[in-house]
Amino acid sequence: MNSSRGSFASQLGVVLASAGSAVGLGNIWRFPMEVGRGGGAAFILIYLGFIFLMAMPVMLSEFVIGRAAHSNAIGAFQKLSPGKPWIAAGIMGVLGGFLVLSFYSVVAGWTLHYTVASALGQLQGQGPVVDGQSTMDFGQAFNSFVSNPWQPLIYVALFMLLTHLVVARGIQHGIERYSKLMMPMLLVIIAFQVCFSLTMPGAAEGIRFLLQPDLNKVTSEVVLGAMGQAFFSLSVGIGCLITYSSYFSKETRLVKSAMNVCIIDTLVAVLSGFIIFPTVFSVGIAPDAGSGLVFITLPNVFLLAFSKMPVVGYLFSLLFYLLLLLAALTSSISMHEICTAFISEHFSASRRKAAAIVTLVCLVLGCFCSLSFGPWRDVTFCGRGFFDLFDFTVTKFLMPLGGFMMTLFVGWYLDRRLVESELTNAGSISVRMMRPLLFLVRWVAPVGILVIFINELFPLFMKS
Ligand code: PHE
Repeated sequence: MNSSRGSFASQLGVVLASAGSAVGLGNIWRFPMEVGRGGGAAFILIYLGFIFLMAMPVMLSEFVIGRAAHSNAIGAFQKLSPGKPWIAAGIMGVLGGFLVLSFYSVVAGWTLHYTVASALGQLQGQGPVVDGQSTMDFGQAFNSFVSNPWQPLIYVALFMLLTHLVVARGIQHGIERYSKLMMPMLLVIIAFQVCFSLTMPGAAEGIRFLLQPDLNKVTSEVVLGAMGQAFFSLSVGIGCLITYSSYFSKETRLVKSAMNVCIIDTLVAVLSGFIIFPTVFSVGIAPDAGSGLVFITLPNVFLLAFSKMPVVGYLFSLLFYLLLLLAALTSSISMHEICTAFISEHFSASRRKAAAIVTLVCLVLGCFCSLSFGPWRDVTFCGRGFFDLFDFTVTKFLMPLGGFMMTLFVGWYLDRRLVESELTNAGSISVRMMRPLLFLVRWVAPVGILVIFINELFPLFMKS
């Protein structure tokens, strides 16, 4: 093993850093939005299927590749299959890392803005809510903020700087240390928020919505959306977990770690539903308000809570955006690390230099994405602005295709003995479900991804 590479110091660090990558805006911002659109519990059930039957096997494959190679996403394929086209999966991963960080930092920047506004009490100064109906003011405030040419850019830059500072400090002193600090904070805040929102008047209605499956809303689009959400939420398919697992020690238990990460990620997503829906229903606002749910609907709820119980309302809104910010940061550092690890290893650059290059490139691309909500609204490619284009390329294309290639690589190409040795730590631990797990990696995940991928892309090409 290359001794100059960093490594995680503890098993707890491994799980918290990987779970930190997984738990992000995808869980708290995107998941409730998709649940709202996709028929509550019906969506959740389909989603769970995708998590454990398809996304988890991809995660396990990434863990096997990363730890066997001890290299960045591209270097890993170069080492394990020199001169073979599998390297395309690694290249797509690093490219995906740049794209995903660029559009993610825009929403993370909005979150930072809302955290600051909450802390300064500005979210309480937007005018009264009458019967929970006045969504107008926050809608306007949100739209004028995101379409402003400068303001959001400042927050994108600040957020990128935070990400940079963690990554530049390295694996143990940066990523592991801050994951160990931020993840417990995040879990405590979630527990607090859930308790609070369950005690809101009328919360039962929201819980019923979450737990009652509405099968009428399940369309093929919802099913496709559930797969995209599962992949995005577990950060699989773009080499992020190849990069992280290249820092795992030989004692790390891959199957157990993957299971823990899947469980923590799913728990946080479902608990976010338990925070958002009871709160939203308690003021009688429709739950499927799309991406405005977190930035438009919730401020109304917080304002209402504030007008009744100022301290609780203030704390609730501040903690909520802080939660979102922590989740975004633990994910963005993992996206950054895909690219930083590649640049520093491939070009033998110092970590600081490599991190600075990634930060600068993503900052520029992030500004493009941010401007696509404002002055560059009309700059489109195939009908999509930069933000949508990057989002689409990563979630609909690079992640499923990368996941497909990685499961094939581990399931069919790599020497079976190497794969089993990685999963059992060279035979020192027994893996009870080895056969079913390998079956998921060899058959269920790749075939499932392929079927869905074709279903998804076919109509797109037919249209264009
Ligand atoms: N899993 C993260 C989330 O849910 C997003 C992410 C995607 C992180 C890809 C790393 C790589 O928000």
